[in-house]
Amino acid sequence: MEKNKTGSEFLHIGNRLLEWYRNNARDLPFRQTKDPYKIWICEIVFQQTRINQGLNHYNNFIKRFPDVKTLAEAEENEVLLYWKGLGYYSRAINIHKAAQQIMNDYQGIFPHEYEEILKLKGVGKYTAAAVSSICFGARMPAVDGNFYRVLSRLFADDFDISNSRAFTYFSELAALVMPENVGDFNQAMMDIGSEICKPKNPLCGECPVNEDCLAFSMQKISDYPVKTKKVKAEYLALTYYFVHRKGQFLIRQRADDFIWKKLFEFPTAIPSDMEPFITGSKTVTHKLTHKNLSIEIWNVEVTSEKQWNDFIAENQYLITDLEGSHEKSFPKPLEIYIQNALKD
Ligand code: ADE
Repeated sequence: MEKNKTGSEFLHIGNRLLEWYRNNARDLPFRQTKDPYKIWICEIVFQQTRINQGLNHYNNFIKRFPDVKTLAEAEENEVLLYWKGLGYYSRAINIHKAAQQIMNDYQGIFPHEYEEILKLKGVGKYTAAAVSSICFGARMPAVDGNFYRVLSRLFADDFDISNSRAFTYFSELAALVMPENVGDFNQAMMDIGSEICKPKNPLCGECPVNEDCLAFSMQKISDYPVKTKKVKAEYLALTYYFVHRKGQFLIRQRADDFIWKKLFEFPTAIPSDMEPFITGSKTVTHKLTHKNLSIEIWNVEVTSEKQWNDFIAENQYLITDLEGSHEKSFPKPLEIYIQNALKD
């Protein structure tokens, strides 16, 4: 990490970013609080979702679950319901478990130390650093993709971000730049990364540290960050049967962890004597992190009451209707299918 800069030159960059943040910080609801519970929820929500898309969800979630205790005491399915639309449901399951962990292991008081926060279910180094720096002044950079991008461009640093040591490498680089107020610095990096130093078409003309940016001075912004390995998405074909009768349809809750843990889904098989009820099928595609799904959904309109009842009894499916389905969380493509199937 040989860099042609002195300690005070590094710090100068950090302070410029901080100054920019003081004048340009986005006005976000979680920025009016230092409540670690709210900051934690915001970090989990906005780690995966753009601010514009997730803000309503965040506000609704906090309204229903305003503190650790309320969240810990809620039913898991209700937590999942409030997560509906955000995807990555395992995160909702984890925050629910972590809230219970805080009640049991920390007497309901959100831990203050980075190392303790890191012990919470579903909390990684980024989240622990963000919460401990923003709420408790810990000197920990919250290194994520924004840090990789901004720092690699600033220093025209070609360290490969797909390398397993990238996190440690950029954490050390961040520590050189980091000013006194690390909580604000971390949030400055988040805002600079999403508003100015964007992956594509960055607004270098508006950047407060463009004079210090090596990649900009060489007009090589698009060369950074360097990423050699691409994780190849796995192809996966799924089959579902939308088994319905008189506006009601059959579902069950997923038990395995493979994908969509704890979400509801349609039957994945039907007995051959129900095949005559098939009226057609639809194939939809859906992307998950590292998975490309092709989902074939067969429409099964059961006209025989006996076969309907037998199928339910033998397989222990739950019966629901459009109204009831609003109370449950489904994978996005199934949710869309239900809305369309029962629209008319
Ligand atoms: N994304 C995740 N956490 C954030 C924060 N604290 N500010 C802005 N964007 C974020």
